[in-house]
Amino acid sequence: MKIGTPLSPSATRVMLLGSGELGKEVIIALQRLGVEVIAVDRYANAPGHQVAHRAHVVDMTDGKALRALIEAEKPHLIVPEIEAIAVDTLAGIEAAGLSQVIPTARAVQLTMNREGIRRLAAEELKLPTSPYAFASSLAEMQAAIDGRVGYPCFIKPVMSSSGKGQSRITGPEQVAAAWDYAAKGGRVDQGKVIVEGQIDFDYEITLLTVRAKSAGEVETQFCEPIGHVQVKGDYVESWQPQAMSPEALERAREIAKAVTDNLGGLGLFGVELFVKGNEVWFSEVSPRPHDTGMVTMASQRFSEFELHARAILGLPVNVSLRASGASAVIYGGVDSRNLAFEGVSEALAVPESDLRLFGKPESFERRRMGVALATGKDTGEARERAKLAASRVKPGAL
Ligand SMILES: Nc1ncnc2c1ncn2[C@@H]1O[C@H](COP(=O)(O)OP(=O)(O)OP(=O)(O)O)[C@@H](O)[C@H]1O
Ligand SMILES: [Mg+2]
Repeated sequence: MKIGTPLSPSATRVMLLGSGELGKEVIIALQRLGVEVIAVDRYANAPGHQVAHRAHVVDMTDGKALRALIEAEKPHLIVPEIEAIAVDTLAGIEAAGLSQVIPTARAVQLTMNREGIRRLAAEELKLPTSPYAFASSLAEMQAAIDGRVGYPCFIKPVMSSSGKGQSRITGPEQVAAAWDYAAKGGRVDQGKVIVEGQIDFDYEITLLTVRAKSAGEVETQFCEPIGHVQVKGDYVESWQPQAMSPEALERAREIAKAVTDNLGGLGLFGVELFVKGNEVWFSEVSPRPHDTGMVTMASQRFSEFELHARAILGLPVNVSLRASGASAVIYGGVDSRNLAFEGVSEALAVPESDLRLFGKPESFERRRMGVALATGKDTGEARERAKLAASRVKPGAL
């Protein structure tokens, strides 16, 4: 593996498609390794734009515009950070040998749509998942619930993330509203939903799984499991390590290995799993760093972002835990283009705490604007510290 000089003909160029808070940390990790980084997002001054060599504003679902930008910038690697991308364009770029898509164009394609990854996991790989059905109309959705899925169940647009358009329903009187909500919350292909039966789990985890080169061979390594709490499909708190029985941990690793082996390529994946006793169900997977994995900036020797950066460059990784850690999300609380954070010094007075303020140019009430991190003697102490630090940060409109 050779890394060139940024801004020279020898540069190793990486393009981030999506430059939010997760992309920003990947960019910083790449910058530290002397990589030339091009950050792309659909709006100006995105978090990653602020730390890259060059920044572009492009609608990444516009295949023509995306292709033109890739042809102009000639990145060696293309690193998707979001799901809403013209994946056919990426597949064409990869097939033509213009750039390498991380982890692969096929993996990006399969995971951007809940139908692709669910059918792969359940029907091809025969992994345990919640009962599910796809529906393209309200009538089909009702039939799927009555016929096999039952209540309570989750209704999700096939293309959405962070809980957008998602609802949990407990009876027939809620079906129509859930359909309308999904139609409004989905992206691109608005006509289809997945109906998922509820898994009555004890806890849920993200198993960060890294495919990286070791002595020339691709090897799979697992970070310690991350536990998290979701509110309305959006993560609010995470911690590492999540205690698990040895049987459940082994099962979780088997499932993560099966899925990531199939998706292939190099990089870090966030495999979302539900656990009850020793039983484990596959939920979904991100072929990239995961929001719940922000905790690793405090808890691991190398954060998930550094691991991703190393893995995609063909470098070896070290997934070891440094300390028990936790993260707690900071929401904007207000709609503003002129946000200011009070209480930062009080927050950082919490022992072993740290903060990331993402620098997003516009705040919304429920937009994630920052995260508090902490370590502790155990995850209980780390969680208390992270939540305390987050609660002391007071965003307000200037
Ligand atoms: N079938 C299910 N059974 C039980 N809980 C579920 C089920 N589906 C979703 N959930 C709950 O809702 C959360 C969000 O669901 P999911 O991960 O599918 O949505 P998402 O929009 O992709 O969210 P994100 O992009 O933040 O991962 C899950 O982490 C889990 O807490
Ligand atoms: Mg999820």
